[in-house]
Amino acid sequence: MKRVVYIINGPNLNLLGKRQPAIYGHETLADVEIACRRVATESNLELKFHQSNREYEIIDWIHEARETAAGIVINPAAFTHTSVAILDALNAFDGPVLEIHISNVHKREAFRHHSYVSSRADGVIAGFGTQGYTLALQRLSRLIDETATKGG
Ligand code: DQA
Repeated sequence: MKRVVYIINGPNLNLLGKRQPAIYGHETLADVEIACRRVATESNLELKFHQSNREYEIIDWIHEARETAAGIVINPAAFTHTSVAILDALNAFDGPVLEIHISNVHKREAFRHHSYVSSRADGVIAGFGTQGYTLALQRLSRLIDETATKGG
């Protein structure tokens, strides 16, 4: 049976490819989704790929994932640095959670160095460009397999 995984993207990532390309690159979010769907097919994963500029929508997808998904990859974008509500929602999710940032947040402004989500994440990828998404998905697939093997 295919394992369902969520990739959730936060605010402004709908502008990927147009927004600050020197930092975030020229690939669009649609390009990222295509690359992720390729990996999902190879890894026997059913992918739900979402983006929103609204915090509540992201929280609602995490709640939905509680009932339906084996794991989550999340780029919370600016909510990374502000949202206790997204952290709380992720803490209510039982499966593996991976956090991804396209840019290396640690090389940037000090306010980007703290992530609320990192205290819940099982792993963090930052600064690998959009390739971080497919790497995170491959890792998530492995983590889901390991959880299943342990009977978790
Ligand atoms: C980001 C980094 C965040 O600091 C920023 O607010 C974003 C994108 C990244 O993918 O590098 O919107 O999460």
